[in-house]
Formats: sequence, structure tokens, C-alpha cells
Amino acid sequence: MQHLIDTDDLTDIQIGAILEDAKRFKASQTNPIALLRDKLLFTLFFENSTRTRSSFEVAAKKLGAAVVHLDPSKSSVNKGETIEDTFANLGAMQPDGIIIRHSANEIPAQLASMQIAPVINAGAGNYAHPTQSLLDLFTIQEHFGTLKGKNIAIVGDIANSRVASSAMALLPRMGIRISLVAPQPFMPQSTTHECYEHIEDVIDKVDVIMSLRAQLERHQKPIFEDYATYAKHYCITPERISDRDIMIMHPGPVMRNIDISDEVLSDPRCKVLTQVTNGVYVRMAILKLLLLDR
Ligand code: CP
Repeated sequence: MQHLIDTDDLTDIQIGAILEDAKRFKASQTNPIALLRDKLLFTLFFENSTRTRSSFEVAAKKLGAAVVHLDPSKSSVNKGETIEDTFANLGAMQPDGIIIRHSANEIPAQLASMQIAPVINAGAGNYAHPTQSLLDLFTIQEHFGTLKGKNIAIVGDIANSRVASSAMALLPRMGIRISLVAPQPFMPQSTTHECYEHIEDVIDKVDVIMSLRAQLERHQKPIFEDYATYAKHYCITPERISDRDIMIMHPGPVMRNIDISDEVLSDPRCKVLTQVTNGVYVRMAILKLLLLDR
């Protein structure tokens, strides 16, 4: 039974197959609707989501799979049922996969270890968001035609970001060099990547900036007085990127004029919505791999 808890569950060959299949799905004008006909997926999101949940659902439906969404706030978890029992009961309906998001780092792996149904991690705590890092990888490859030798700066609240965590695991494995840009308290406790405090220190060395959502509310001790002070240092603005040939990414949700300015969000160098479009094709490829090619 293959699970996807983080990208280290995938071989290089499987990652290559995901990138190829996603490219093929995107290029194709028709949906390969028959591919996952008769397959059943559950989505189980204990945290809010706009992109990941709907993207998985669109991807599954394009492939002909049935998707059932269980809203945890209306489920029997609220009557005291444990998450393991909830998972076991969904498993008893014999789905082909359960897509789960949870605020606790260990939950997807814990449920996967029950070996009841394949688990796809749709975001766990600050630990991992593997399908986001795969769609980011695809978007970088699509833009540049290659991955090897590209330089990316991850900017913002890196310590609290599951997107950054999965990117730091996957992108270097594919030949991309990462620099981290953040105030010291936003940096991971230990890292092998080059760390910078200011965007200006790294902007001329990178092909891509991945901005992250400022999550000031997660910090017990305030690092900045408010979001405006944070933005003064870390918002991606036209002045900061100037006329550089640079690609701007963000996993969403974007905090406008805090993470990225309105002007940059409308700039053709900003690929935030391309990431969302690509997310559907990459998740189609992931579902094909896990449900069909396993
Ligand atoms: N990128 C991402 O995980 O967005 P959502 O929280 O909207 O799913």
C-alpha cells in the first residue's frame, strides 16, 4: 500500500513520472476520464483549504473518480470519536485513498501506519505539504525547461511553513539550490541552506522567489510590531524586484501588500495562479501514480 506523507515516499523515477504525466495532462485538451473510473476517494480536511481540497477534487473528477468529502466539523469526531476510529470507519467503506489535512505533524503518518487505506497528506502542521512541493517543482520546470542549477530564495516565516519544509526536502534533490531569507526567529532551528536576513542580499543571485504567508499570529513572542512593519522588510514589491528576470511564487493564501504587493501580483513574472492551475494536473498525476500505477 503506497502512501504519500512526504516526497521521500517517492522514488526519483516516480517523481519523474509525475512531472511527465502532469505535462501530458496539461497539454491534452481532453480529460482521461476513464483512467480512475470505479475509484473512490475521501477528503478529510481538519484545517481550512481553498486550493488543495478543490484541486484534489477537480483532479479526481477529471480522471473519473468519485470523491466524498467528510466535513470534520459535522462529523462524529465532535461526539468524541477518535480520529483513528473515524479513519477506520471510512476505511471500512473500502476507498482507494484518503486525502487528509491536519494541524498535527504526525497525524497522516499515524493513520497511514494503520494500513487500512492509502493516505495522501494534503498538509500536516509545519511538517510537510508534499503535493504543494511537487506542483512547485513542476511550475519551475515548466517555466525554465530545466531544474538543475536553478536558484530559489524562500522568503518569510520558514519555521512555521509546511510548504517550505517540503520544498527544502524536494527541490535540492532535483538540483535546485535554496537560500532562506527571514529574520532569525523565522528560520528553522537547523539548516544546511544559506541564510540571509534581507531580500536585497540575495535578489541578484536567484531565479525564483518563493514568498510565504506571514504567520505572525503563530509566534508567541512578537517579532514585528504589526504586519505593516513585516511588509516593510519582506513584501515583494516592484522596487525590490525592479526589472530583473525573476519568477515570483507563493503557495497561497497570499496576504496582499504584506507578502506580495498588488502590483507584483499582476506582474507577468508572478506565477501564483499558474501554480494553482498546475496543481490540478500534478494532483491528477499523483492520483494516477498512487491509485493506478502502484
Ligand atoms: N497552498 C495551499 O495549501 O492552499 P490552501 O490552504 O488553500 O489549500
